[in-house]
Amino acid sequence: MTATQYLADWRPYPFEIDETRLEFHLHPTATRVLSQIDFRRTAPGDLVLDGAGLRTLSLSVDGQPIDPALIHEADERLTIPDLPDRFTFSAEVEIDPQANTALEGLYLSGGMFCTQCEAQGFRHITWYPDRPDVMAPFRVTIHSDQPVLLSNGNPVEQAPGRAVWVDPWKKPAYLFALVAGDLRAVSDHFTTMSGRDVALNVWVRPGDEGRAGYAMESLIRSMRWDETAYGREYDLDVFNIVAVDDFNMGAMENKGLNIFNSKLVLATAETATDGDYERIEGVIGHEYFHNWTGNRITCRDWFQLCLKEGLTVFRDQQFTSDMRSAAVKRIHDVQTLRARQFREDSGPLSHPPRPDHYQEINNFYTATVYEKGAEVIGMLKRLVGDDGYAKALDLYFTRHDGQACTIEDWIAVFQDATGRDLTQFKRWYTDAGTPRLTMTEDWQDGTLVLNFRQDIAPTPGQSEKPPRVIPIAIGLIGPNGDEVLPTTVLEMTEAQQSFRFDGLGARPVVSLLRGFSAPVTVTREITANEQALLLAHDSDAYARWQAGHDLALDELTRRATGAAGSRALVQALGGVLDDAERDPAFAALCLALPGEEEIATTLAARGTPPDPDAIHAARHALLSEIAEAHQTAFARLYEAMAPQGPYRPDAEGAARRSLRLACLANLSRRDGGARAEALFASAGNMTERQGALEQLIALGRDAQALADFEAEFRDNRLVMDKWFMVQPLRAAPDQAVARARALAQRPDFDWKNPNRFRSLISGLTANHAAFHAADGSGYDFLADWLIRLDPVNPQTTARMCSAFETISRYDATRQARAKAVLARIAALPGLSRNTAEMVTRILA
Ligand code: ARG
Ligand code: ZN
Repeated sequence: MTATQYLADWRPYPFEIDETRLEFHLHPTATRVLSQIDFRRTAPGDLVLDGAGLRTLSLSVDGQPIDPALIHEADERLTIPDLPDRFTFSAEVEIDPQANTALEGLYLSGGMFCTQCEAQGFRHITWYPDRPDVMAPFRVTIHSDQPVLLSNGNPVEQAPGRAVWVDPWKKPAYLFALVAGDLRAVSDHFTTMSGRDVALNVWVRPGDEGRAGYAMESLIRSMRWDETAYGREYDLDVFNIVAVDDFNMGAMENKGLNIFNSKLVLATAETATDGDYERIEGVIGHEYFHNWTGNRITCRDWFQLCLKEGLTVFRDQQFTSDMRSAAVKRIHDVQTLRARQFREDSGPLSHPPRPDHYQEINNFYTATVYEKGAEVIGMLKRLVGDDGYAKALDLYFTRHDGQACTIEDWIAVFQDATGRDLTQFKRWYTDAGTPRLTMTEDWQDGTLVLNFRQDIAPTPGQSEKPPRVIPIAIGLIGPNGDEVLPTTVLEMTEAQQSFRFDGLGARPVVSLLRGFSAPVTVTREITANEQALLLAHDSDAYARWQAGHDLALDELTRRATGAAGSRALVQALGGVLDDAERDPAFAALCLALPGEEEIATTLAARGTPPDPDAIHAARHALLSEIAEAHQTAFARLYEAMAPQGPYRPDAEGAARRSLRLACLANLSRRDGGARAEALFASAGNMTERQGALEQLIALGRDAQALADFEAEFRDNRLVMDKWFMVQPLRAAPDQAVARARALAQRPDFDWKNPNRFRSLISGLTANHAAFHAADGSGYDFLADWLIRLDPVNPQTTARMCSAFETISRYDATRQARAKAVLARIAALPGLSRNTAEMVTRILA
């Protein structure tokens, strides 16, 4: 089954399902699944069911065994012709959860049964129309001696060895879930806006109860927020969250039974960082928000994935902004978008937020579908205004509740609610590629003319790139730092377009793309002095940060290509440090210079093949100059940002810790690691401990700290994942590969666990100069492990192939080495469809 699937080939399913009844007899190696599905015909056609890896014991229609001669079975499909208008299809199959290392369908994680059905996992459980536009109410009976038995919906019977769950809301099979294991609940409840009481449980392994409190608080905040921000209420009597250790992705929004990677549930101050806490809150919100944007209204087909994911990411971003700092959240989101989505969009894996073909849908759970999908909604909101957005969303929920929808439905709702023609806007969904926006300025007698041009480079399969509508938010800052024009949104619709501003006194500096109003790259002429002016005075926090970031990026790219350095950045950071106590998070963001990968990206975009070693050296040298120039300020702020009272995982505390660690990084360049050692030994929270450990690794003074860390956390998998990750990530580039190889030999490198695998391997691939080592050792290391993992877990293997998506940027030697290892992977007999598709696209 390597055939390409096309959006254009979608056809309605000729049956509806009135009810799906499932009965599970759980057994680690021989689980029996009995199904009864009540079909009702809505159009002529055969019954087509999906199934993969099933041992079929019986198939019948209305109690009569189906004549095997009638069944056509091919390509994991069963086709049964000549069926009546109403009938009950029954199947009995046997499956082997223990052998399921791909973690798709029903599998075992640490002795507990759990499921992952999105996108096409249900077909590994039983024969079914495994497509999102076939929705049904489910009744599920579980037979098992496991103490806790869970499925979707409400519990209707619970007895030892048996449980029955009924989900009255119709849903596609990808939202099915089942969990059975020895679990303990952290429980609470929530009263919805219409006064219904909902029982809430976060289920964890015995002993982990003390680590689930933050997840529960986050769930309650999410439920309240969706009521106030979107008027959306929860619709079942119970909401269950289960933490599992073996999980391919972050979490899954199964109706009433969300299943989470345990790293997105379990947290204590001693074991989780500020970043972990923020992600837990954000992902708990994300999965909860899917109840309306994903479950009540789902996708017609998998090409529409961004309909639910882009919108739900947008909603979780709004939630985090409201719970924490909107400015910091926006800057973080822009950083992630650039690092992951712009990267994807500028290489061989580029695709539109709504792709029109794929081989393996699991390869399209991408930054483009998720993060760019969210940016597109942010632009839409900016174009139609907050009121227009609210009206459109209300219409979406009333018009489409209970339906499986498309991007066309989504756009129609905005057109109908606001009267705006969105024909051109739709290109953001259907076209791939990141527009490059170029701005030039003409200034004369108090009149400023801004000339914009948009260019979009060809992407795989799309050479024609008509112009898009781009909302460009700008402000104008006078030479003394005053704002002479508050935020104004220019709507660019042509390939080239000018906008004119009259009656200005002195020539202002343009604060461009405020709030990052569109996912584009920017080319403009600006001096270091003007950047410093924006960094000091812009009223838009994002634009202020971006000005400093651009200043740093210019400095770093110059130095990385052998040009002499300037003092402009070092001086501008002095101003940031003077002001740091007022906004510690902002100062910390400015001190975190662009990473090596971003410098490489910037050079490549200008047509210069990046030299990873030169980039590393240039960045290192600039950081040392900054550390030297501002040592007094760093020492002062390091003390000023010391903890005040017990750890709290809130935005204020996280801001202080982020600045403190930024100071530590600078101080460590001069004190030989003394402060980092002291902090590592004394800190009571993981944020500071991990921060200190990372400095010690970078300095090569880590032996004792690593041993202490291991002794303390040996039995905590999630914390040991950090230990595996930070070593290859922070080690000097010429040592990181050897270190990763040594770590991979350890008995506790449990590589079949996706978290552990990713920690070590992506720790290395994120160390830019190490992964791109000129001798190809980084590429070889990754390829060896991808080859080993592919037969065990194709999904996780395929995702990690994207480490190679940037190879065409580098010099001929590196390219040849990377292509050789990719060819080695491509040639493997029995390579999974997932990995084969990724490697083929990268090599194309
Ligand atoms: N819908 C889930 C989320 O939004 C992602 C699940 C994807 N899983 C997969 N195997 N493709 O977080
Ligand atoms: Zn999602």
